[in-house]
Amino acid sequence: MDNAPKKVFVKTYGCQMNVYDSERMRDVLAPLGYAETGTPEEADLVILNTCHIREKAAEKVYSELGKIRRMKRDRAEQGAEMLIAVAGCVAQAEGEEIVRRAPAVDLVFGPQTYHRLPQLLARRREDRKAVVETEFPAEDKFHGLGEEALPRKGVAAFLTVQEGCDKFCSFCVVPYTRGSEFSRPVEQVLAEARRMAAQGVRELTLLGQNVNAYHGLDARGRSMGLAGLVAELSRIEGIERLRYTTSHPRDMTEDLIAAHAENRKLMPYLHLPVQSGSDSILKAMNRGHTAESYLRIIDRMRVARPDIALSGDFIVGFPGETVSDFESTLKLIKNVGYASAYSFKYSPRPGTPAAESDKQISESEKSARLQDLQALVHAQQTAFNAAMVGRTVPVLLEKPGRDPGQLVGRSPYLQSVHLQASPTLIGTIVDTHISGVGTNSLSGHYANAV
Ligand code: SAH
Ligand code: SF4
Ligand code: F3S
Repeated sequence: MDNAPKKVFVKTYGCQMNVYDSERMRDVLAPLGYAETGTPEEADLVILNTCHIREKAAEKVYSELGKIRRMKRDRAEQGAEMLIAVAGCVAQAEGEEIVRRAPAVDLVFGPQTYHRLPQLLARRREDRKAVVETEFPAEDKFHGLGEEALPRKGVAAFLTVQEGCDKFCSFCVVPYTRGSEFSRPVEQVLAEARRMAAQGVRELTLLGQNVNAYHGLDARGRSMGLAGLVAELSRIEGIERLRYTTSHPRDMTEDLIAAHAENRKLMPYLHLPVQSGSDSILKAMNRGHTAESYLRIIDRMRVARPDIALSGDFIVGFPGETVSDFESTLKLIKNVGYASAYSFKYSPRPGTPAAESDKQISESEKSARLQDLQALVHAQQTAFNAAMVGRTVPVLLEKPGRDPGQLVGRSPYLQSVHLQASPTLIGTIVDTHISGVGTNSLSGHYANAV
């Protein structure tokens, strides 16, 4: 294997799981001599870690590939080689099609094959033609990603504990791009968390497409749910905060709700997508829950943890969505009161049942509904942030801020908080008196300095 110093540029699209996967790809490439660069022009290997969730996501990749192809040509003129790789969910879904549409691409590989990256690169070198790898290997990708991880840089980090989805919502590509549900064994997760804690990580966000469907095997071969895993992780010295995302309403079990009441390390913030407030649309989406059952979960969460804040995902203009269905969604949003939310126009995805429906909603109607929904959510988010002023909250200090002497941290509700503090405090949690609110962040000062 050629281990001469080389440079890799990784661009990440899509969800946090891709962010985590990109880190792991860097880990796998480091022993081959690849160091990370922020400049694609000087890279020996460019990896686009792609997302397929909505139409524009894939189109962005093709337009990016156009730019990178020109860089590759410029490099070739200087006598240097640049390999272009497409990883992630577009790679999984499109496979060979990517090489047909963008012949400059050297490697295409799906999310379950990152541990094979060294072999894929070697094959590309030997064959001198594009390598496309989109099968779902039987072996555990995480195991293959090894223990030799590079140090994690920040005090807050992602840790994938579950991957894939068996729920098959009728609009969604994830079950096809990520494969069926898989949970990492408990000991493997704990070992990685301990390593991160030793490197200075204080806040862990556990990731999974359906993270609360987690059911990993423990050391004795028994299945453990997310509540159990959270309890185990909260015992690790150095880990001060735990979060998890994304959850599905169907898997919000009693013990997980109880964990929010009992475990102070579990942050009072829950991202729980509902997609729609109309039962007939939820049924057509194959969500397996109603608006009412979702609201009952929220009620129980609020009993367990009165200070919990909520976030959600919404789709507008799902095929067949009437004005009255849409109004039910607005009603649900008013009912819940979100601290933040992500909302999207329905995007027909090839191969999914909803894309075949003849009840598609016009683009202009989707845009109008999205605008209404976002105005409502924005008002809720603004009110939530404004209500922080005058409160004292624990802030985990993460990094230097924009102004000299300033640090940026996170509130329990994932808000960025700016305050004057010494850099030696990075990685600690300080009680902060919130005194101001901007568009995307809060400002404050030490509570004990008031
Ligand atoms: N597993 C999570 C969501 C993963 S995808 C869950 O079940 O909630 C993230 C979000 O993208 C979804 O919650 C949904 O709101 C949105 N999304 C997924 N497919 C979409 C599509 N075809 N069109 C528009 N939005 C979509
Ligand atoms: Fe997609 Fe539904 Fe699975 Fe979430 S639960 S990843 S929306 S199929
Ligand atoms: Fe996108 Fe794949 Fe994540 S489709 S949202 S990168 S699971």
